[in-house]
Amino acid sequence: MRTVLKRLPLRLHSCLLVFLVLLGGCSDSANPNVQQAVPSPDRSPALLSGLLPSEEVVPAKQLVLGFSQLGSESAWREANTASIREAAEEAGITLRLGNAEQDQQKQFEAIRSFIRDKVDVIAVAPVVQTGWEPILLEIRQAGIPVIIVDRSVNVEDSSLYVTFIGSDFYQEGVKAAKYVIDKMRHHPEAIRIAELQGTVGSTPSIDRGRGFRKLMEERPNLRITMSAPADFTQSGGREVMRTFLQQPEEKWPRVLFSHNDDMAIGAVEAIREAGLVPGKDIIIVSVDGTRRAFEQMVAGNINAVVECNPLLGPLLMQAAAEIMAGRTLPKRMVTPEDIYTQELAAMEVANRKY
Ligand code: AHR
Repeated sequence: MRTVLKRLPLRLHSCLLVFLVLLGGCSDSANPNVQQAVPSPDRSPALLSGLLPSEEVVPAKQLVLGFSQLGSESAWREANTASIREAAEEAGITLRLGNAEQDQQKQFEAIRSFIRDKVDVIAVAPVVQTGWEPILLEIRQAGIPVIIVDRSVNVEDSSLYVTFIGSDFYQEGVKAAKYVIDKMRHHPEAIRIAELQGTVGSTPSIDRGRGFRKLMEERPNLRITMSAPADFTQSGGREVMRTFLQQPEEKWPRVLFSHNDDMAIGAVEAIREAGLVPGKDIIIVSVDGTRRAFEQMVAGNINAVVECNPLLGPLLMQAAAEIMAGRTLPKRMVTPEDIYTQELAAMEVANRKY
């Protein structure tokens, strides 16, 4: 691993060092162990040369990272996997990657194979929040450090993992709600909202739903009248939206909150099939910020998108290398994210990296 950090580009060193010195402005940032990951890997970080003396951090053998990816359900996930593959290659880290196809048991199997192979570090993007204690204990017994990526785990003993790198999903729900409240500010009448949830039991679905509802409590005329899971897939979004629109017309929603872009794009198809105009008859806000969603915003079909950054590869590689070098990491690293509306979409679409 001595070679590993030498091969890590300087900008990766700088990314993590910036985590260590900047406090995040997100919902859990009151905790001193929460750091906001500024800048994000796609935003040309400033170079902080000389801050990591190579004698201290360069390990003796090549780092092997086992990564249990939860699936390939969305454009976000594809971008996340690609980012992790590319960053590993760039850093000279050997990556063992298992795709669990949204099945927690398959994640356990992949993790056990990483343990058998004696990898140096295990990273997990957990499909759901619960059920992780036993496998994390197995990893601990094997003496392998764990990094949680993207979605979180509900465990009583947080020392079972070193750090959790990913978005603040609760804040994403809050941002979506703020947009809806503002958009509907001239509508005192009762407004029906439909919600397309992601995978049942997953952190983004739970937390985006909570954040959104929290703000809706302040506006009694804005009510979620339909809500169902669609597994973060485009086909799921299309099917569930069809069932929403099979209701009598007086029950149709005026607003759709979709927990991700793929489901929103599926819903756009269903809305058209029903003879309605997406983005006008039904106001749509979704989460992720994929290029496809930006194109839909430019076309007027989606009204706003809350960003959720999947480009976590460089941060993950840096964290793995830092752990191997014996450094202490913040328990939580949060990626900074924005919200985009139709007005900004045309300007931004060409800049989207995923
Ligand atoms: O965990 C992140 C979520 O998972 C993304 O919002 C969604 O698109 C993906 O499938």
